[in-house]
Amino acid sequence: MEQKNNPMEKLVSLSKRRGFVFPSSEIYGGLGAIYDYGHYGTLLKNNIRDAWLKAMVQERDDVVSLDGAIFMSPKTWEASGHLASFDDPQVDCKKCRSRFRADHLLEDFGVNSDKAGLEFINAELNKLKDGGKLKCPNCGSKDLTEAKRFSLMVKSNLGSPTDELTEENVIYLRPETCGNIYLQYKNTLDSTSPKLPFGIAQVGKAFRNEIVARQFIFRTREFEQLEMQYFVFPQEVKNNYELWKQTRWDWYLSLGIKPENIRWYKHEKLAHYASEAYDIEYNFESLGGFKEVEGIHARGDWDLSQHSKFSGTDLSYFDEATKTRFVPHVVETSAGLGRLFLMVLDQAYTEEEVKEGESRTVLKFPPKLAPIKAAIFPLLKNKPELVAKAREVYNSLKSEFMCEFDDNGNIGKRYRRQDEIGTPFCLTIDFDSLEKDDVTVRDRDSMEQARIKISELKNYLRDRI
Ligand code: GAP
Repeated sequence: MEQKNNPMEKLVSLSKRRGFVFPSSEIYGGLGAIYDYGHYGTLLKNNIRDAWLKAMVQERDDVVSLDGAIFMSPKTWEASGHLASFDDPQVDCKKCRSRFRADHLLEDFGVNSDKAGLEFINAELNKLKDGGKLKCPNCGSKDLTEAKRFSLMVKSNLGSPTDELTEENVIYLRPETCGNIYLQYKNTLDSTSPKLPFGIAQVGKAFRNEIVARQFIFRTREFEQLEMQYFVFPQEVKNNYELWKQTRWDWYLSLGIKPENIRWYKHEKLAHYASEAYDIEYNFESLGGFKEVEGIHARGDWDLSQHSKFSGTDLSYFDEATKTRFVPHVVETSAGLGRLFLMVLDQAYTEEEVKEGESRTVLKFPPKLAPIKAAIFPLLKNKPELVAKAREVYNSLKSEFMCEFDDNGNIGKRYRRQDEIGTPFCLTIDFDSLEKDDVTVRDRDSMEQARIKISELKNYLRDRI
């Protein structure tokens, strides 16, 4: 029997209690919509990132890597259009001073204002105000400002530490990672000589001055993106787009995401240069429904053309076979690592009755994503021969598998703790182990136990991870 109440509160609380995610700068009162990842969170996040890199780079011969800097020439964002129009419509409550996204307020009344102008947004807000329906979600006051534009670009400055932040030295933290990919497209082409179609993939931090509602790590001001730009012949955009849609969908299934938990969302209103845009949405129990985790976009030749124009560097491609020169078109796949993390956590979180009157919380991660693959316990902490044998097993496994040695509390408590961390296998060394050279392996999900020879343990774990 499974049950989940207040799912978001439970995820937030477990994440902190078990060292997955902490509010940033908590001892100074915290920093809105910024989070730190603890030991198990870091391991889980890295496993998701590595699964993406394996599928997107290691297992393909048409995608190469990049690790670009966060600071980039401010011209980048002029060329991309971010400085002119990367903003959200903002509404303030005049009473409690809370700030909201106008499009989210409208969404609650079933009004879609995706890519709509301020005129449309304010007209819709006014209709709701006139009907007495629009209230501050925080304090209930009806005294709300008109919607105005709020830039998402995070400003900084580079220069001597005493410099004031002036318009001359202003620099931006990148709002998306793909900027580096466009700027290093030519160097990548010149240095690794890929033939079209080819992609450049990168994982890195991005920063946005989000107007946030409480959504934990779903929408943060500092986050990681997993982006890949696939450069294609202009006449081959359609089939490449379809291929990438399928490839990305399949990746979610390969991660262990249930097909009924994901769906496509088609963007009807597109940027002027785009020919197609779909999101993959996951049905977050913790957020009350389907929300975007990844976007797949056909972006035309907009980005390379704009950067050619603004930089004065020719970013066209010469095709030897047809002896033609042109600017490649781009199919982009763009996912947020924090959102993937929340998705994996959301699906894994389970409360179940173990036996009459006894329940447990368990994170049923797919073993390949689990932060800890195996926990090794001596049955009794005060029996040196059991502790020594357990250490021996732990030492033999830890170079291949992320393992944990645990001799705290009784076995029952250790199982509960490992369940909450999502460890798929718990290995106990008891007195029989000393004679028979075997251990008890307890499976996290079925809670069944089997005796496995120590010499067979690596194969046993490999087969299941
Ligand atoms: N280069 C295209 C791009 O950045 P996007 O839809 O703005 O497109 C892509 O972002 C993905 O990045 C989203 O699907 C989401 O997973 C993630 N993302 C965007 N903003 C985020 C935020 N504030 N916090 C966490 N993840 C975010």
